Amino acid sequence: MPEAFVAPGQAAKPTGQYCDMVLKAQQEPEAFWLQQAQRLTWQTFPQAASRSDFTGDVVIDWYAGGVLNASESCLDRHLQTQPDKTALIWEGQDEGQREVLSYRVLHERVCRLANVMRRLGVKKGDCVAIHLPMVAEGVIAMLACARIGAIHVVLFGGFSPEGLAERLSDSGAVLVLTADVARRGEKRIPSKETMDAALQRCADASRVKHVLVVPVTGADVPMQAERDLNYAHEVAQELPTCPAEPMQAQDPLFLLYTSGSTGRPKGLVHGTGGYMVWASFTHAVVFDHKPTDIFWCTADISWITGHTYVVYGPLANGGTIMVYEGLPSWPQPGRWWDVIDRNGVTVFYTSPTVVRAAMREDEAVVRSRSLESLRILGTVGEPISPEAWHWFHDEVGKGRCAVVDTWWQTETGGVMITAAANSVVPRAGAASLPLPGVEATLLDTQSAVVQGAGEGLLCMARSWPGQAQSIWQDHARFKQTYFTTCPGYYFTGDGARREADGYYWITGRVDDVVNVSGHRIGTAEIEDAIATDHEVVESAAVGIPHDLKGQGLVVFVVPREQGVFHPDAVNRAVAAGVGRYAVPEKIYVVSDLPKTRSGKIVRRLLRKIAAHDLDGLGDLSTLADPDIVDELIALVKAQA
Ligand code: WT7
Repeated sequence: MPEAFVAPGQAAKPTGQYCDMVLKAQQEPEAFWLQQAQRLTWQTFPQAASRSDFTGDVVIDWYAGGVLNASESCLDRHLQTQPDKTALIWEGQDEGQREVLSYRVLHERVCRLANVMRRLGVKKGDCVAIHLPMVAEGVIAMLACARIGAIHVVLFGGFSPEGLAERLSDSGAVLVLTADVARRGEKRIPSKETMDAALQRCADASRVKHVLVVPVTGADVPMQAERDLNYAHEVAQELPTCPAEPMQAQDPLFLLYTSGSTGRPKGLVHGTGGYMVWASFTHAVVFDHKPTDIFWCTADISWITGHTYVVYGPLANGGTIMVYEGLPSWPQPGRWWDVIDRNGVTVFYTSPTVVRAAMREDEAVVRSRSLESLRILGTVGEPISPEAWHWFHDEVGKGRCAVVDTWWQTETGGVMITAAANSVVPRAGAASLPLPGVEATLLDTQSAVVQGAGEGLLCMARSWPGQAQSIWQDHARFKQTYFTTCPGYYFTGDGARREADGYYWITGRVDDVVNVSGHRIGTAEIEDAIATDHEVVESAAVGIPHDLKGQGLVVFVVPREQGVFHPDAVNRAVAAGVGRYAVPEKIYVVSDLPKTRSGKIVRRLLRKIAAHDLDGLGDLSTLADPDIVDELIALVKAQA
């Protein structure tokens, strides 16, 4: 056992239990994961844990024979033991907007909406798109889908109509839930109008039979007769009970789109049984869950973090979740600290971007708040620097809270590598240790396993319950993306370094994916959007280090005609094709891109030049036109 488990100081409970889990999961995985399945309510208990196989056609198969409904594990069983316990506390961004839902009330609301959906013709296996800000109805909508066996597809509020249309078409959604208008500080986001524009663009928009509009601000929005319905009006007509659809463990619970190294977003498919076990298990172990916790995961529900740690994990474990609609420092700095104090939040799970932004504020902001309810802090989505980690620990945690840096991905369903609170000693800046049952492995570029201390491609040697099953309607792409780089392993797309005692440090993506403030953006998506600007012949997007956002996007653009080029048009093309959140930091206009003689863009060079990292550019003789490098260097220096 790595010595690290014997945790001085940080460990409040005996670490033995965690060690036992690591060993049992390693030595008897079938028995261990069947035992963990008892965390859920099953209509029929599964006969097997994993029948997964990373070779051949690649099968991710968990809990065969098991029948369950995710909403029963999150709601019904708690009704029997703790109906009046608070399930969800919601605060709106306007002062005084607050709602507290007990398990009984949450169950009723979920059932009413589930009944609406059934009445509107949604059937088991249909996709339902959810396009809502952080209001209770977002959580309710996800659970209502689960209740009737519909597959939810939560869509980010920042997507452009084009981005939404692509995902609506790919999923084949039959029903959409959107807001009238969403609030983001002073800004108003026209959710319904954006959705209307998206539906107009879908060639097969006719598959969407209805749009349910949640009145978030109560603004007047255009409603298309027959198709568009007022959410409040519809749910009021329904009964507060609804039978839960029996689902096979492997039936999909949801699709979630994420970016990869090609232009088309991938709809990752998560099954019901395995995902739910992973959500419950990781929430309990990583955050040392206690029944008295008020758990606040600040992620938007349109990210996997929001799925697993706003909704499914804490509710499966009978916890109380905090849902806050607004920004960290609006209308005044320290707003989130006030949310923590007002509601007695005990676990606060956020992103390094939020921590970095808070660090830049006057220290009186955080010091003037009590924050004494907190016992555990966590971050996710990007690496956290040791400096930010210590600030988080000292200033927010006041030196008394366990801090967990959690590494995972949309594809993994839940946390994979972390210093589980009060069980594993954290190391500032390191993701730390794989959870029980996670067989992290480093491979070198020849696919040989790296032993002991070293660096390599981060892979998983064995399936875990939270693993995505496939890419929606494209299993070949699933296999190609994750199981061909390192045959026999799941390849994460990240690089990592491991210390001799087993601690992992994530070094970042090794593919063409950029992480801007925790937003995962495929550079190919950016380039595809820019290609719609007719003034541009070609472009290349790369990520560079950014103080606040972690990474920033830089694009190199080759205009069709020298001197005829409008950077605004490029920004507009990106905003329209992807979303405003992906608009580049900087645009360099160049006469050509560095390419190999076979015409492949040498991104490694662009990344280094854009980051002003000009030493050791490597061998340039393989370039078709080595002179282009001098032009690029001169340009970035001139525009520094
Ligand atoms: C990518 C996955 C996990 C939910 C949110 C992001 C990066 C994630 C960490 C971390 C360093 C991290 C990786 C990963 N990442 N967490 N703690 N330290 N990097 O999910 O959008 O699927 O992105 O985010 O590069 O591959 P996602």
